[in-house]
Amino acid sequence: MKPMPAAHDSIRAVLWQGDHLLLLDQRVLPAHERYLDCRGSAEVAQAITDLVVRGAPAIGIAAAWGVVLAAQRDPATLGAALAQLRAARPTAVNLMWALDRMRGVIDAARASAAPELVERLTREAQAIQHEDLAANRRMGELGAALIAPGSGVLTHCNTGSLATAGYGTALGVIRAGVAGGRIARVYAGETRPWLQGARLTMWELVRDGIPATLIADSAAAHLMQTGAVQWVIVGADRIAANGDTANKIGTYSLALAARHHGVRFMVVAPASTVDLASASGADIEIELRDPAELLGYAGTRTVVEGAQAWNPVFDVTPHTLIDAIVSERGVVEQPDAARMAACFGAA
Ligand code: MRU
Repeated sequence: MKPMPAAHDSIRAVLWQGDHLLLLDQRVLPAHERYLDCRGSAEVAQAITDLVVRGAPAIGIAAAWGVVLAAQRDPATLGAALAQLRAARPTAVNLMWALDRMRGVIDAARASAAPELVERLTREAQAIQHEDLAANRRMGELGAALIAPGSGVLTHCNTGSLATAGYGTALGVIRAGVAGGRIARVYAGETRPWLQGARLTMWELVRDGIPATLIADSAAAHLMQTGAVQWVIVGADRIAANGDTANKIGTYSLALAARHHGVRFMVVAPASTVDLASASGADIEIELRDPAELLGYAGTRTVVEGAQAWNPVFDVTPHTLIDAIVSERGVVEQPDAARMAACFGAA
């Protein structure tokens, strides 16, 4: 049975069904609402690579269920399944974090019979999913409290229920801020080239009854110049030990424009997105995707044959451009290595 979400949070993208996994196919939203049925870990890994499921926390959750599927089918394949899932995408550290948790359970249950191992892995995957939802609700409260009543906000990419266990990170703050009257205007950038903002964020917001206005990515600086937004609120795929933040391509440009216009800049992400092993953003691998994503749309070539394209899908915003990093552990204002260590250094 599908879990019943709270009001203004009606979407679940990752649904465990006991012996298979349903993933809401984010490649075809909003035109089609259909689920991909994954019966094995290889299918889950492929779904992550292909962006059927995307968004850092959702990728980690789906991968955890992929491990459960591998254990159900044949525990002898777990090592290969973990490796394949880990390689599905490089930038979002939530993927590696979730798989490390699942690996910890496998190591601890080494002497157990297969049914016991499956049971323990199932509990861990459920815990990862439930903890993410709880973290999002907490971050919603903490982030919204930073925003003055009546503010306008701009977000980028999709950080909502589709990208998480539910509610969302940056979009969770926006949900809480709208509900509490702090946010009066929501703008979403369309997020070229894959259109997570246009296709996914606008779909979530319209569906959950939150008025929002779509802008072209290139309209962001102009929007800030008009004074309509007081905060840019984004998610993260990996936050380095000094607060440098990898997120969807275009985030860095928004941070630069925000600083110029006196607009504040908030990153919202669970502690599972913080990677203390990356000292700075320079240590974060930026995913390069197929240039075809830029050279055409929906299977139709839009650029002249023979043209080349460069398609990095994340960028790094230096911590000096970030006013606040909001996690379920609290708010780190003006983040730097010392403040990050104080919040995330010792679990
Ligand atoms: O390529 P995507 O769609 O997986 O990129 C997603 C983002 O960049 C999100 O902002 C990030 O993962 C945070 S989602 C809560």
